[in-house]
Amino acid sequence: MDRFLQGVEMRHACKIFDETKAIPNEQFQNILKVGHQAPSSFGLEPTRLLVIKDKKTREEIKPLCWDQAQITTCSEVIVFKALKVDLLAGSNYVKNSVARKLKSPEKQEIRNTFYANYLKNRGYDDYTIGYWSALQSYIVATSMMDYASFLGIDSCMIEGFEKKPLEKYFNLDTEREQITLLLTLGYRKKPQSERLRIDFNEFVKFI
Ligand SMILES: Cc1cc2nc3c(=O)[nH]c(=O)nc-3n(C[C@H](O)[C@H](O)[C@H](O)COP(=O)(O)O)c2cc1C
Repeated sequence: MDRFLQGVEMRHACKIFDETKAIPNEQFQNILKVGHQAPSSFGLEPTRLLVIKDKKTREEIKPLCWDQAQITTCSEVIVFKALKVDLLAGSNYVKNSVARKLKSPEKQEIRNTFYANYLKNRGYDDYTIGYWSALQSYIVATSMMDYASFLGIDSCMIEGFEKKPLEKYFNLDTEREQITLLLTLGYRKKPQSERLRIDFNEFVKFI
């Protein structure tokens, strides 16, 4: 089995981490770099990360994360945020992103119009744009989690949190950004539990 698949086998939703073990800084920096390089729709990179190093902050957010042990026992806690209104067509954020990649004003114009039509076609508006941007953050988180597994580092994604209170705790301007999920990383304290997946043939069909 190749090393990537070994990582897939060892990955599980780690419920409690060994508090005495820390991820080497270089490996953690590389996990963050993998997230930075993740793909995003239209290359708009709407994901932002908040790495919670501060112990007190971790203790304070734990009750807002359903008191889950991962928050305070893991080596690293990463809060995933996703931009919202900046992704709307015609925003300065979108225009700047397009201009960074396309030098010609004509090409920028075509791209911006194409983007506006795309959002319209998908029905993304001021409100639903948040769903779309959240999807992008999951791609970043998954890349980072898979790379961590490749390195033999355990993880657990955390969707179990009180969204509004947590956003308030971090003083987010919720018109502009939202918290989508957290990723906890470290080393397991207990053995992996048995994995029970649906049958492979239910998961995939070939036509
Ligand atoms: C987006 C996402 C959010 C999750 N949130 C939590 C969580 O808040 N707490 C938790 O213990 N597990 C959480 N999990 C883990 C899942 O419950 C777990 O991946 C699933 O049961 C399959 O088990 P496995 O990952 O061990 O194979 C989450 C997983 C994903 C993908």
